[in-house]
Amino acid sequence: MSRTPVTVTVTGAAGQIGYALLFRIASGQLLGADTPVRLRLLEIPQAVKAAEGTAMELDDSAFPLLAGIDIFDDAAKAFEGANVALLVGARPRTQGMERGDLLEANGGIFKPQGEAINAGAADDVKILVVGNPANTNALIAQQHAPDVPAARFTAMTRLDHNRALAQLSKKAGVSVSDIKKMTIWGNHSATQYPDLFHAEIAGKSAAETVGDQAWLENDFIPTVAKRGAAIIEARKSSSAASAASAAIDHVHTWVNGTAEGDWTSMAVVSDGSYGVPEGLISSFPVTTRNGEWEIVQGLEIDDFSRARIDASVNELAEERDAVRKLGLI
Ligand code: NAD
Ligand code: LMR
Repeated sequence: MSRTPVTVTVTGAAGQIGYALLFRIASGQLLGADTPVRLRLLEIPQAVKAAEGTAMELDDSAFPLLAGIDIFDDAAKAFEGANVALLVGARPRTQGMERGDLLEANGGIFKPQGEAINAGAADDVKILVVGNPANTNALIAQQHAPDVPAARFTAMTRLDHNRALAQLSKKAGVSVSDIKKMTIWGNHSATQYPDLFHAEIAGKSAAETVGDQAWLENDFIPTVAKRGAAIIEARKSSSAASAASAAIDHVHTWVNGTAEGDWTSMAVVSDGSYGVPEGLISSFPVTTRNGEWEIVQGLEIDDFSRARIDASVNELAEERDAVRKLGLI
């Protein structure tokens, strides 16, 4: 283990997801068992003390791969030299807040963070936005980092992808590892489209194998798309360990590559593929190799899928227009 440590910046470090995420990063699950990591944590001033507590626990875990921890309340400092940036900290929606209020509040967070990444992150920085509304927050940050290739800004739909794998595995009575080519299209919101027509179980179409269109339409799709709300209802708090786990999966797959004959779901900057307007950060089926992603091309999209992809992409376009109106991009 002679490698130079990789610098990983995590925002919202004192939050629920931060608490589940940081220990897994420090133990080597994000980048691999031979890659030391240096953590740079960003919090708002009121939460720095709590982040210090988490840092004490990270120290107490004596992780051999953890090369150091620094805590900041200043984005410019936190993103200095970042090779990987996990943007988790965001203002959650509270009672009475409209979508526009949330977009405005988070614009105030993701604009300066995009600028800080532009100014100080490492040349090879890879960015994952987890904080909601994740796709549009990623768009805001990306628009304020003109010197960073747009492809480095991604948003998380891997949790939705994993939720879809879990629901399908239960229905089909197979292991999640028997399922390949799952796709989440669109926005990380209730309009997302989890696609079983291209997913495969033992090499055959998952939709055909299950052979139950009513389940697919009335059970599978809404269960996956509304799982976040169901978790909030049950836990009285939003998903945290599963979200952290998905963030680990997202970056691990991005860095280490997708398996032959499989792909993953990532929200990435559209190049116009599948009719998704260029520039929107939308979830697609992607393969990854040598630290770069590529949208899977040439999939046939039938009318059922087309309508659902369009609905979610339209929502993304509306969010983009709303943040544009607010002067955030
Ligand atoms: P949380 O409220 O427990 O923690 C958020 C933390 O972010 C807090 O400690 C807060 O102080 C910090 N924070 C706020 N503004 C900040 C700023 N400007 N800079 C740095 N830190 C800041 O929330 P959580 O449960 O950890 O969730 C974090 C976000 O992730 C929420 O927006 C949530 O909706 C989202 N989320 C996304 C997914 C996904 O699949 N994309 C899944 C689950 C949760
Ligand atoms: C989730 O999907 O669990 C999170 O994005 C929380 C939410 O608000 O749905």
